[in-house]
Amino acid sequence: YRMVDLIQKKRDGGHFEKAEIDWLISGYTTGEVPDYQMAALAMAIYFKGMTTEETANLTMAMVKSGKEFDLSAIPGVKVDKHSTGGVGDKVTIILAPLVASFDVPVAKMSGRGLGHTGGTLDKLESIPGFEIEKTEEDFISQVKDSGIAVIGQSDDLVKADKLLYALRDVTATVDIIPLIASSIMSKKIASGSNAILLDVTVGDGAFMKNIEDARLLARTMVDLGKAVGRETVAVLTNMNQPLGYAIGNRNEITEAVNTLNGKGTSEFRHFIAELAQIMLGLAGVEKTVPEIIENLDNGKAYAKFLAMCEAQHGDATAFNHLTAELNVAHTVEIHAEREGYITQEKAMGVGIVAMKLGAGRATKADTIDFEAGINLAKKVGDFVKKGDLIATLYSNQEISSELIAEFKDNIEISDQQVHAPEILEVIR
Ligand code: URA
Repeated sequence: YRMVDLIQKKRDGGHFEKAEIDWLISGYTTGEVPDYQMAALAMAIYFKGMTTEETANLTMAMVKSGKEFDLSAIPGVKVDKHSTGGVGDKVTIILAPLVASFDVPVAKMSGRGLGHTGGTLDKLESIPGFEIEKTEEDFISQVKDSGIAVIGQSDDLVKADKLLYALRDVTATVDIIPLIASSIMSKKIASGSNAILLDVTVGDGAFMKNIEDARLLARTMVDLGKAVGRETVAVLTNMNQPLGYAIGNRNEITEAVNTLNGKGTSEFRHFIAELAQIMLGLAGVEKTVPEIIENLDNGKAYAKFLAMCEAQHGDATAFNHLTAELNVAHTVEIHAEREGYITQEKAMGVGIVAMKLGAGRATKADTIDFEAGINLAKKVGDFVKKGDLIATLYSNQEISSELIAEFKDNIEISDQQVHAPEILEVIR
């Protein structure tokens, strides 16, 4: 094949054969296909799309571009979980130990944050000493011994995606369903778990801005998983406002630790328990939501979190530190300017302010300040009186009046109460 012919074919609305996709992905992985031609092809795909069959072939070609993990040495059904990204998303840090507390092994590889979205790995690294790099052998033996491991993606996992995702990031070709679906599912398939829960976020702070697109992405990924024998379920979750109350890194660990100790709000506990119910169901373990919540109250889920920290050398005995208020040079409290109901806390805008406070990365090379971030005191649907605390901003840099104004622009108070459910739909 010649790359220029493939670009032209897609540009003119053609469909690729499996052999063409295999050639293209292997050529791109070895460097024979240069970035500029791949960029042109990504843009052609952006405009012309891909069929279900092309997407499936692309996904499997991507899987084959790197190392495939074999978790068969771990007894039982291994379940994995993935979020398409969001603001304040600390779900994995609570859900993984919660599921593991029912003796279902969780072997998960997580990613880092970029832009307004946070990453589980960065959050875990705010636990002093926590190590996210493991060899395959150590990863497997940790899951065998402790029932849980959350580590960074191995460099060998889906090599084509490392290159392609970085290229898409700088060529405005990230937000296209077949490319997102193949990127995520190739990593999940190569990671080796038997069953997968996909948290597809929807709204202002997510890749998918509306429910129709989210449904299509979820359906595409669920079908891809099933086609290769991995039981896959997707939940569409609300990302119009941040998830939970903490946005940052160490403060999200604090919220996770508190939730694992029975101190979460009832809506948040319920949300996590419903996700856990689906994951457990994928592993053939049927539990009711109250039974699952029980493990947040009786210390079992927290014990799994501590076991994971210990196995990964994180100092969870620094509990006093982990649950203390953020320790920074500058804090600013945001108070309600009128009475009414909170009707909006825009996830994207709040996430960007958190990033500017030091909690995130504008570019991949930026470093994160684990103590920076935002703690919300109120969420959408809550009533406030004039002067009530809505949020506190934390930073080690001076917090400018422009940044405070920017935060306030994302908050709306009005007379009409609105409800913001966390789970919008389940797609099987
Ligand atoms: N997350 C991924 O891993 N890949 C994408 O393409 C988008 C989100």
